[in-house]
Amino acid sequence: MKVHILLGPPGSGKGTQAKRLVEHFSLVHLSTGDILRDAVSKETEIGLRAKAIMAAGKLVDDDTVNGLVFARLQDETGNVLFDGYPRTLQQAEALADFLSAQGIELGLVVDIEVPEEALEDRVVKRRVCSNNACGDIYHLDRKPPKTAGVCDKCGSSLKHRSDDTAEAFKSRMKAFYDTFKPLQAFYSGKPNYKRVDGTGMPDAVFATVVKIFEAHETSGERV
Ligand code: AP5
Repeated sequence: MKVHILLGPPGSGKGTQAKRLVEHFSLVHLSTGDILRDAVSKETEIGLRAKAIMAAGKLVDDDTVNGLVFARLQDETGNVLFDGYPRTLQQAEALADFLSAQGIELGLVVDIEVPEEALEDRVVKRRVCSNNACGDIYHLDRKPPKTAGVCDKCGSSLKHRSDDTAEAFKSRMKAFYDTFKPLQAFYSGKPNYKRVDGTGMPDAVFATVVKIFEAHETSGERV
């Protein structure tokens, strides 16, 4: 078993690429944003604590997120793709300790780079399928659904995330800038760290990332 990581700022396309990659390479998608949103909608103890933090665009505390992730990893046997985790140096260090203790290999760390000026529009105009099992991602201008407010894939209603407002976006970018440099420094020296230009169309970004995964695979290691 190994884990791969997608890094990048809010709206850089981690979720969009993750959905395609998990299908293409039969990976297990582990999005801490999705896990936390599910906890919020089910009003679990963690969800009740996380709700206001997430809506304000701040980060949920490291111990809570690490606990959720490690509990999920204990049950997994397939190769995992993280989307939105780790997000702080503390999370990256805790994950490294956990992987080493469990004998799990760190695979690729793909860092999707998109300049801030392109991100707000992506986030504010994003709509997502309300059916968690589907979770398809739309953009009102660039990837509109065929019928307004309805998911093309499963027919469920689309929703606007509570943190996809211009105000929460500013706070999310602040959280990103506050934490990202040390996180990037932690991974950037590792051989499997790859930077990807995320400004192209989703198909073009996907083609680039697939090549990276295929090169990793042919280097003798299964994705
Ligand atoms: P999370 O759900 O992880 O949100 P995020 O990191 O802010 O990322 P997003 O989901 O906003 O964007 P994305 O990169 O997935 O982009 P997407 O593909 O959707 O986290 C939410 C919150 O949960 C956090 O703020 C925090 O409170 C909490 N949390 C989560 N993980 C945590 C952790 N580890 N520690 C602490 N707290 C945590 O694309 C965005 C839009 O752009 C879409 O409309 C899409 O259609 C469009 N798009 C995608 N790709 C392209 C492209 N190439 N060109 C043009 N448009 C594109």
